[in-house]
Amino acid sequence: MTLMNFLKERRSIREFENRPLDPDDVSNIRNVIAEIGNDFGWDEVTLDLNLDSDLIFNELNGKAGYAGVMVKAPGYITVQYGNRDKMNYLKGAFVLGELETRILPLGLGYCIITLEDHLIESKRELFGLKGENIDFLIAVGYQQHKPPFNPEATSSRKTVDEITFTDENFTKPASEALSKLNMQDLFYALRYSPSYKNKQPWRFLVDGSEIYAYVVNDEDLKHSMTDMGIIMYYFQEMVKTMGIKGNWEIVKDLDAADGFIKLGRFKI
Ligand SMILES: Cc1cc2nc3c(=O)[nH]c(=O)nc-3n(C[C@H](O)[C@H](O)[C@H](O)COP(=O)(O)O)c2cc1C
Repeated sequence: MTLMNFLKERRSIREFENRPLDPDDVSNIRNVIAEIGNDFGWDEVTLDLNLDSDLIFNELNGKAGYAGVMVKAPGYITVQYGNRDKMNYLKGAFVLGELETRILPLGLGYCIITLEDHLIESKRELFGLKGENIDFLIAVGYQQHKPPFNPEATSSRKTVDEITFTDENFTKPASEALSKLNMQDLFYALRYSPSYKNKQPWRFLVDGSEIYAYVVNDEDLKHSMTDMGIIMYYFQEMVKTMGIKGNWEIVKDLDAADGFIKLGRFKI
């Protein structure tokens, strides 16, 4: 499947069959985690598969998940950060993008679950000292085949015109500029990237053959940095399939003065 179709079809899964992961799948997930560790070679983000699923579910039910309902899965991948700086969340999210693209093709369902800062006691209880730096769990298991969980509230998307612009005030939609770059379909698919509370905090500015990524600067900025890293990862991977081998140049000093913060530039 092309990455574009993969993105359009991917969804967060919150209801899983009540059965453990098959040993083959456990080893597949562990292999994916090891491969990603090797490929990225970063020590800022550490992934680990945890199969103490009842323990995790019981401790976090009512505290994390969707509207306080913990997602019950046979396995949870812990996402631990070496440094909880905003830029590290952006970088770490490239790992999460890669993880999603490798886990879903194994036939597994996947949902990111945020462990907010106030859950520190639960995190210590479950994972010991390192738990303090675990900000997300990723529920993995076999999707229960019934109508999707509250699809409208969780999965609706902004239009391409609501996220791509040609001016810094984000008022002029970039549809013409995108068609010159042959990137309308790409941005259509990109919108299906996941985001915290489905806030879709991403904005893109198209200036000729340069694309700038901005994030909405609000009280959820810490989580939005992860959303941004995931969508920037997907962008980078999709343009590769168009034969464009660039990278995001990440802005070093974040200018948080405005309602939007510039995070990166990509030269086509
Ligand atoms: C950084 C991040 C944190 C998330 N945290 C949660 C969460 O705590 N609970 C949950 O049910 N879903 C969580 N999600 C999944 C989003 O709710 C989901 O991606 C969004 O609603 C869009 O739906 P979709 O993934 O099905 O397309 C998170 C997603 C991201 C990217």
